[in-house]
Amino acid sequence: MADTILSIENLSKKYQGKVALNSTNLKIKNGEFVALVGQSGGGKSTLLRLIAGLEPMTSGTISQNNQLIHGINSNTRVMFQDDRLLPWKTVRENITFKKPKNSETAEVVNQLLERVELQGFADAYPASLSGGQRQRVALARALFVNPEILLLDEPLGALDALTRSKMQKLILDLWQERKMTVILVTHDVHEATKMANRIYVVKNNKIEATFENPLAYPRTDATCTNLSTTILNKIIDQD
Ligand SMILES: Nc1ncnc2c1ncn2[C@@H]1O[C@H](COP(=O)(O)OP(=O)(O)OP(=O)(O)O)[C@@H](O)[C@H]1O
Ligand SMILES: [Mg+2]
Repeated sequence: MADTILSIENLSKKYQGKVALNSTNLKIKNGEFVALVGQSGGGKSTLLRLIAGLEPMTSGTISQNNQLIHGINSNTRVMFQDDRLLPWKTVRENITFKKPKNSETAEVVNQLLERVELQGFADAYPASLSGGQRQRVALARALFVNPEILLLDEPLGALDALTRSKMQKLILDLWQERKMTVILVTHDVHEATKMANRIYVVKNNKIEATFENPLAYPRTDATCTNLSTTILNKIIDQD
């Protein structure tokens, strides 16, 4: 398929002989926003880590733009539930990390900080920020390199409901502005139906069901409720 950005075939991962991901197939088109939901231990984070190239796969293939992924996948960035900011570095240094600092990168950081509503925080240290502010720095850091695919592993799990709702909107806005592809792992099925155009249920260490969600953005809570119920039933289904 011409506009397929990510193609995963027969992907498996074992840890000390124990299956974490079993012969998984997945195709994602450029610019999609998909979500992975499912019970704890199902293999969602494993799948994200393999896409990011943070761990070797046991068998199978992952291709991005028809290129096989080996080792770290520099066209992706992952954002986790904990912000993973370096406490001894400022906000700006956390965002630029390995990049040389010059006036051009400084301007990119300023624009990103403005976009995540943290203008004026460039020289602050993580300890002086709230949890929600730290996650916004983590988001800016992930976007700094302009990844083709943004991988989100429960990035909003530790936030209060209001902050979470604002972050959902920010992520959706940035996705539309930047035309990137997003893969979101979440325990919150309602969040998945609110944000993603397709939802995969990961169960028994593979993708067991796929739900299309072609509603227009932004979605209201009411429009998502029916689909959320169907997906929840699939997750808890004992088959
Ligand atoms: N580094 C590791 N070493 C050994 N086993 C692991 C490792 N990482 C994950 N596993 C195992 O692989 C399986 C899938 O784990 P994974 O973290 O991908 O699940 P998950 O769907 O992300 O769960 P959760 O919703 O709780 O985050 C689990 O059985 C887990 O114990
Ligand atoms: Mg996980």
